[in-house]
Parts: sequence; structure tokens; C-alpha cells
Amino acid sequence: MKTAPAPAWTPHGWRHRAALQQPDYPDAGELERALARLSDLPPLVVPEEVDRLRGLLAEAASGRRFLLQGGDCAEQFRDCTPERIADKLRVLLQMSVVLTHVGRKPVVRVGRIAGQYAKPRSSATEKVRGKELPSYRGDLINGLDATDEARRPDPQRMLQAYFHATATLNHLRALIEGGFADLHRPERWQLHADAAAVPAYRDTLIQVRESIDFLEALGVVQQGALDRVDLFTSHEALLLPYEEALTRWVPGATPGEGGYYNLGAHMLWVGERTRQLEGAHLDFLRGLRNPIGVKVGPTLGGDELLEILNRLDPTQEPGRITLITRFGAGRIAEALPPLISAVRRSGRMVVWSCDPMHGNGETAGSGLKTRNFDAILSELRQAFELHRAHGSFLGGIHIELTGENVTECLGGAEGLSEADLPRAYETGCDPRLNGAQSLEMAFLVAEMLRG
Ligand code: PEP
Ligand code: CO
Repeated sequence: MKTAPAPAWTPHGWRHRAALQQPDYPDAGELERALARLSDLPPLVVPEEVDRLRGLLAEAASGRRFLLQGGDCAEQFRDCTPERIADKLRVLLQMSVVLTHVGRKPVVRVGRIAGQYAKPRSSATEKVRGKELPSYRGDLINGLDATDEARRPDPQRMLQAYFHATATLNHLRALIEGGFADLHRPERWQLHADAAAVPAYRDTLIQVRESIDFLEALGVVQQGALDRVDLFTSHEALLLPYEEALTRWVPGATPGEGGYYNLGAHMLWVGERTRQLEGAHLDFLRGLRNPIGVKVGPTLGGDELLEILNRLDPTQEPGRITLITRFGAGRIAEALPPLISAVRRSGRMVVWSCDPMHGNGETAGSGLKTRNFDAILSELRQAFELHRAHGSFLGGIHIELTGENVTECLGGAEGLSEADLPRAYETGCDPRLNGAQSLEMAFLVAEMLRG
């Protein structure tokens, strides 16, 4: 069957299609003014960085690199502090050292950071302490406070989000440039108190140091190649007017080349609730040069998945698409194999990543949303095994985490129980692994990666 050529793409073409999960802004004029300002502001990232990430993800798609994508479920403006930003960078770097060293694979790090401010919600309203309110949709759209006033969608928040993302990214870049991420001195990455709960980490740091010295002495590692690391940014492309305003035409080296880049982040993903074939979100994402993630849940069949891939990646570019599966520990064994077969039949090179968070939610007796460390681990283990059993391989993980010592997920080395949850439950949305749980997870995943 022949498919008709895709019509010419523009950054605003999505406006002719149904866009789910968009707020109703009460004042259209105010919305237009905010978007006009946003379109004039400088980009957060540059196209060369986006292209570099695409290259690294192409390596992940061929098994030469492993993707570590992680960060908050929902970043909140109030978390834009130097301590929290440094803690998150530190935990991502610590995890990547463990994965590289124990798992023996170079890692590409992508944060859910510097722009992860919008949340899809299953219902338009939610009950907070007995009061029915419009749902919180993330700081990009409305406020978390339990008042009607805070929950009103406010276009000014798009500008605030832009500036908070800018401040976050500026600090990340300064920390990295300043040597915080220097792989020669991982022992200087000052252990967070709770990382001490993972004693193996100290030994790994010493071994990492020794093996770097050894490789450099052999000349295997180019001098200087380890002096700095990359951390790329990503978020869910949910609020389309905002994403459109950050999308820019970038001319190519010769006339006729060039493309549109979303310069609000290096990588964007489409969520489980907004990936309809004829919907606005897929239409928007298909025209971007950025690498694109697709959340894949248990209701997606192989044919529909291939159709999504045809639209987002008609030229079958390795590394363009990362499939982020999120089935739940109880469903992955049934849901994943048919999708692996479909993708194999199509001959495409995608990065298969596992999000073991979003299919494993549960509600504690107290009513708090939580996730169990063992269920998360079980989905990851099954993902590795199922890929191996079906002639494929897992190329990455997608984790909701924070560097702080929060008590949002059950289990882990500290054995957090339901009674512990209220002690430091801070998330604005889904429960995250804390610093120690994240590091422990990295060790366990690294062992699975080694096989
Ligand atoms: C998320 O990643 O925070 C999220 C909402 O995921 P999903 O779209 O997979 O439900
Ligand atoms: Co989430």
C-alpha cells in the first residue's frame, strides 16, 4: 500500500488538529502577547547540541551506548535553587558512572530537567481536601495551591517557565564547565548523606579512578576526552503553543538545507495520553529535527506503533526515535514482545528504553500515590530479559528521581515503608526515587546491562 506524501510542515500546522490536554486560557489577547514575547527570546539550547545528541542516540540504537534519562515527574519553579539543581546533576552523574563502570557501556545522560513543567492529567478536576478544583497541570500552566485562583491557567507562566528553565540550565552548564562533572575526580562529587546507604558506590568510585588512569596510560582514552561530560535536557512536549514559540528555523550550510529545531530542549517526548495518530502532538513533533521520545503503554498495538513511527520518522533515521515503554511489572511480559517483533519486521533502528515508573503506581493506605522499588526493578529486569529473548536489546532507562532524601517510593536499601511516606513527601505529581534509591537502582541496572 502506498502512503500519500506528508503535507508540508509548519510549526503552527498542529493548530488544525485536535490537541488534547490543552488549557483554556480565559484571555486570548494575553496569551498572544506572552507567545509573541516568547518567540523573540533567545533559545535555551543550540542546534549543534541537538545534532550531537542525535548522534549519541544513534549509537544507543546500535547498542554502543546506554541512555540514562531521568529527573522530576514535574519540576516546580520553587525547586529552582542551586542546591536542588546540583543534587539532581550529582545523582545523574553518579548513576552514569556506575552504569559506565559496572555496566561497561558509555552513557548518554538526558535530564527531565530545565523545562519539565507541564503535566497531562486524566481528569479535568481533582478533589483536594474535599474541595473540587480544576486539576493542577504543572507550573507552566497553573499553580498547585488549592484555590480556584491558583488553578486558573495563566499565560504569564509560560514566560516564568522559560526563565526558570534558563536559570536551571545556566547553573547546570556552569557546574559542568566549572569541573563539577570532571570524570577524573569523581571522588570529589561529595556524597550526599543518603548515598552512604550504598557502600558499594565508594568502592566503585575508586575503581573508576583507577581504570581511567589505566586507560589513559595506554592511550586508549584520548587526552582531554574525559575532562567534561554532557548533560542534555528533555521534557514532554505537551503545551503546544509554548513548544511552537520555542521552535526556530535553522538555515543549513547550503540553500535548500536547514530545518526546524525546538530549541527549548535537546530532546522532547510525546506522552501516553497525547500520541493519537491524527492528533496535534504527533503532527507538531514530526517536523522537528530534535530526537523524539514516544511513551508506549499497554494499549498500543504493533500496527499503530509502526504507523506512529512512519509519521515521526519517515526517513528511518537511526537515533531519531526512542521508544519509552511503560507497561507495569505485571503486563510487560505480554505487551512488549509483539512490539519488538513489529519494530524488527520494519527494520528500524530505535532506542528501546524502559520507564518502570508509570505502569507501577499504587495508592498507599494513607491515600498517597507511591511506587514500590521491587516492582520498578522487576519491570526493568523483565525488559532486559524480554529484549534479549526476542533478538533485541534494551538501550536505556527512563526514571523519575530526585537528588533529595524524599520518601515517596517504597522499599530500597533503607526499606521505606508506608509509615515513612508522609515524612518527606514533596512531589508535585508522581512519586520519585530518592538519591539513595536511584543509586541503588543504577547498580542493579548496571549488573543487568552486563548480562
Ligand atoms: C510522565 O512521564 O511523567 C508521564 C506522564 O508519563 P506517561 O505519558 O507515560 O503517562
Ligand atoms: Co510522572
